Amino acid sequence: MKKNSWGSRVVYQIYPRSFNDSNGDGIGDINGVTEKLDYLKDLGINALWLSSIYRSPMHDFGYDVSDYYQVDPLFGNLVDFDNLLKQAHKRNIKVLMDFVPNHTSEDHAWFQKSRSSKRNDKRDWYIWKKPKSNGSVPNNWLSHFGGSAWKFDEKTGEYYLHSFDVSQPDLNWRNPDVVKEIKKIMRFWLKRGVDGFRVDVAYYLFKDPFFRDEPDNPDYKINKNSQYHSLLHIYTLALPETLQMLKKLHAVIDEYEDRFMVCEIYTFLKEIVNLYRIIDRQSFAPFNFSFLSLPWKAQDQKLFIDEFDEMIGDDYFPTYVLGSHDFPRIVSKLGENQARAAALLQLTLRGIPFIYYGEELGMKNRDIPKEKIKDPIALNTNGTAFGRDPVRTPMQWDNSKHAGFSDVEPWLPLENEFRSRNVATETKDKTSFLNLYKSILKLRNTRKSLTEGKYIPYASKNPDVLGFTRRSHAEETFILANFSTELQEVALPKGHWKILLSTRLDRVGEIKKSILTLQPSEAVILGE
Ligand code: GLC
Repeated sequence: MKKNSWGSRVVYQIYPRSFNDSNGDGIGDINGVTEKLDYLKDLGINALWLSSIYRSPMHDFGYDVSDYYQVDPLFGNLVDFDNLLKQAHKRNIKVLMDFVPNHTSEDHAWFQKSRSSKRNDKRDWYIWKKPKSNGSVPNNWLSHFGGSAWKFDEKTGEYYLHSFDVSQPDLNWRNPDVVKEIKKIMRFWLKRGVDGFRVDVAYYLFKDPFFRDEPDNPDYKINKNSQYHSLLHIYTLALPETLQMLKKLHAVIDEYEDRFMVCEIYTFLKEIVNLYRIIDRQSFAPFNFSFLSLPWKAQDQKLFIDEFDEMIGDDYFPTYVLGSHDFPRIVSKLGENQARAAALLQLTLRGIPFIYYGEELGMKNRDIPKEKIKDPIALNTNGTAFGRDPVRTPMQWDNSKHAGFSDVEPWLPLENEFRSRNVATETKDKTSFLNLYKSILKLRNTRKSLTEGKYIPYASKNPDVLGFTRRSHAEETFILANFSTELQEVALPKGHWKILLSTRLDRVGEIKKSILTLQPSEAVILGE
């Protein structure tokens, strides 16, 4: 199999609305990203994933696309985008775009036509159903954003399906014209020089052709889970046709050199591995959210990592994620020292790490006052589901009034600690989050074992400590992470080990004994 460069890359996710505002409207934009490429290069990343920048009415902030061939004017235009690509490539930074194939905006010309009459060439591009004989919704399917997944449309007297917001009608992937058009859109961007896509809600594409009701989820807890989780989604998620379609979409990526496709899916290890098998290419990976979904315990994480690495094998690349624009920030979830250890693991494990902007500063969730809430999930569920605004606050560049993000009031309030937690301040503080990220990435980018080495689990006798080796030819790097909040001792494998880095950034150098004491929640990188 031809090797591509993605296995040794580190991807940085930018939520463009919140990264850097270059034109003073309080909203981040493409030129704002371009301005910060040197910061990203210096951080040590070598690929970007831009959350959706397509033209959109912004009900779901770009995940409701009204034109796939255009950049939304809020973010700039195609010339700005081409410039970003050029400038990024000059710095050996690849650029992945978001791709939103499950649904469009209701403002998309296709849907406008589709809903205008029962007989037009776009009617069947979306999923329309008659009401039941009593006038009610066609079945019990639920929207991810709350309530039924069906919306009645007066004009033609039928319901359309929307797996997310009512403003996001689902495309009908059983219609070959839809498939043809989506492939055309992919080629449009790939030809422009985009290095691939992050495929939004990739498991949703096909739905049961018989529209059967989904069964109740016996594990559903009304106060703990969102309403969407009250059903088992056996007729709307991960259908065999969806998996095969992802393979076909991926084939478009492989028409071009050194491109990549990463799919947003949330599922069990076996299914993740199955998807690698189906697509069977190095230029593909599904996201893996195990750091977020499993308990922060050495044994739970180890079990998953060991199995995952072994099951997918050396030809494919695992991915590791600590956050995104949809999940609580890792520092708020685990605590600061734990998040530092998580970052060290994420950046030293075999595979492709995805860093969400601000993670490198230790950014936290920010409680959003009711009147400032923007996220449709929070608005639709009256605050009962986790709204995503708290993790989308502006990037913190310095300690000035608007954190150096914008000259005017930003679209979302700043995180409370931005005056002490920002790029300028953290650059000067030797033990900051930012310097931790930079130091780990520097090691990663200079040690072959960390980019190319095999993953070899370490059988630590201490159940609170996770250990592994990365080995490539003669070079070995050994990693240890203490998951407990107490001191832990761990026996080292034979060898003359040196501490290259600790998450506390307070010690380096030779270890004289065969036992190492780890500080609470400390993780270390050792070399021979
Ligand atoms: C994905 C995106 C999320 C969006 C949803 C609907 O989960 O990450 O932000 O709201 O898809 O497109």
